[in-house]
Amino acid sequence: MLAPGSWLGLMGGGQLGRMFAIAAQTLGYRVLVLDPDDPSPASAVCDEQLIANYDDPLALDALAGRCLAITTEFENVPAQSLSRLAATREVSPAAASVAIAQDRIAEKRFIRASGIDVAPHHVIEAAGDLDRAGDDLFPGVLKASRLGYDGKGQYRVGDRAAAHAAFERLGRVPSVLERQLALKFEVSVVLARALDGTIVTYPVAENIHRQGILLITRCPSPRVSEALARKVCAAATTIACALDYHGVLCVEFFVLQNDELLVNEIAPRPHNSGHFTIDACVSSQFDAQARILARAPLGSAHQHSAAVMINLLGDIWFREGGALAEPDWAGVLAVPEAKLHLYGKREARPQRKMGHITLVGEDPVALWQLAKTVADSLGIDWPDNRSC
Ligand SMILES: Nc1ncnc2c1ncn2[C@@H]1O[C@H](COP(=O)(O)OP(=O)(O)O)[C@@H](O)[C@H]1O
Ligand SMILES: [Mg+2]
Repeated sequence: MLAPGSWLGLMGGGQLGRMFAIAAQTLGYRVLVLDPDDPSPASAVCDEQLIANYDDPLALDALAGRCLAITTEFENVPAQSLSRLAATREVSPAAASVAIAQDRIAEKRFIRASGIDVAPHHVIEAAGDLDRAGDDLFPGVLKASRLGYDGKGQYRVGDRAAAHAAFERLGRVPSVLERQLALKFEVSVVLARALDGTIVTYPVAENIHRQGILLITRCPSPRVSEALARKVCAAATTIACALDYHGVLCVEFFVLQNDELLVNEIAPRPHNSGHFTIDACVSSQFDAQARILARAPLGSAHQHSAAVMINLLGDIWFREGGALAEPDWAGVLAVPEAKLHLYGKREARPQRKMGHITLVGEDPVALWQLAKTVADSLGIDWPDNRSC
C-alpha cells in the first residue's frame, strides 16, 4: 500500500475529480490534478493542479514524475495519454478499458461479445448505413459514438429522413442508431475492482432522467427486486472481468416493459448515480477509487441508510424572466436528512450539473416524500406517475 503523503494523479478537474480529491485526502494522500481549466471544481480542493491540455506531453510527464498512481474522472481523456502515463506508472482504469467505454460502437460490440444484451442498434459510419438499418430501429435514437454525455450528441429520430438530418447535424461522425425502447425504468450499479481482482459491488439504484440528464437516484428502490439486483450485479461483474478492469466502473441498464434487462452504457469512473454512496454507504465510490490507486484494501460497500439523490442543475438559479438568484440553501439545510453537495462552479448555466442533495434516513417511502418537498422548494419539477 502506498504511504499516506504519496501523490495520486488525476486526469480531469470536474466535480467527480473534486469528490475523488476529497476522498483521497481524507486517507492522507496528496492529489495532483491535470485540467486545462482554472479554476475547476477540483482545483479548489486538490493539493496542486497542472493547467494544461490532456494530451500535453510535458504535463503528462510532470504528472507521471510526481504521482505513483494515476486515475481519470472522465472517459473522454485521450486513451493515448493514459498509455503514455502507463509506461512508467500504475494507471487505473487502463487505457484499453477507457478506449472501449469512450466509443459507443466498441462498447456495444464488447458488451455483446461478453454475452450481455444491449439495445437493438445499427452502426452508422456513413449516410448509406442509415439506408441499410432495419425498419425495426425506428423510431430510434441516433447517438454519436464518441464524446456524448448528459443526453448531448444524440437525437430522437422518428423515421429514416429524420435520421439523415440528425446525422448531418452530428457532423457525419461515426454513430449508432438505436431503437427507442419503451422503458419501464432505469437502474445502474457501481462496482470497484482492485488490482488483485477483488470486486465490491454497491447496491443497485434506480435512476430517473429528464431530457437525457440524470435527475434522481433512489436506493433502495421499490422497483428493484432482489432477483433483478442479482442479474444486474452479475452482468456488471461479467463486463468488469471481461475488461480485466481495475478501478471504479458504473454500468447503466434499461429495464423494459417485459422486464428484459439491457445494458445501456458503461462509465470507467465513479458515476453521478453513485453519489448516494458518499452519505449512505460505509465506503463511497470515491473512497474506493482512492483505495484502488493506493493499493489499499477495498472498503465496505454496505449501505447503512436509505437514500434519494437529487441533481441540482443550473436551471434552478434562473427565476422567471431569466434573473439569476441563489437557490434557498438555508431551506435545504434546515431539513435534517438533507446532505448538500455544491461543486463550487462559478457560473450557473441551464442543464449544467452544479451540485446534488442526498436525503438519507431509515424509511425509503418517507424519504421519497421528503425529496419531493425539497425539490418543490427549489423549483425542481418532480416526476409524476411514480409510486413508492
Ligand atoms: N434507446 C433508447 N430508448 C429509450 N431511452 C433512451 C435510449 N437511449 C437513451 N435513452 C434515454 O436517454 C438517457 C441518456 O442516454 P445515454 O445513452 O445514457 O447517453 P449519455 O451518455 O448522454 O448518458 C438514458 O439514460 C435514457 O433515459
Ligand atoms: Mg448515460
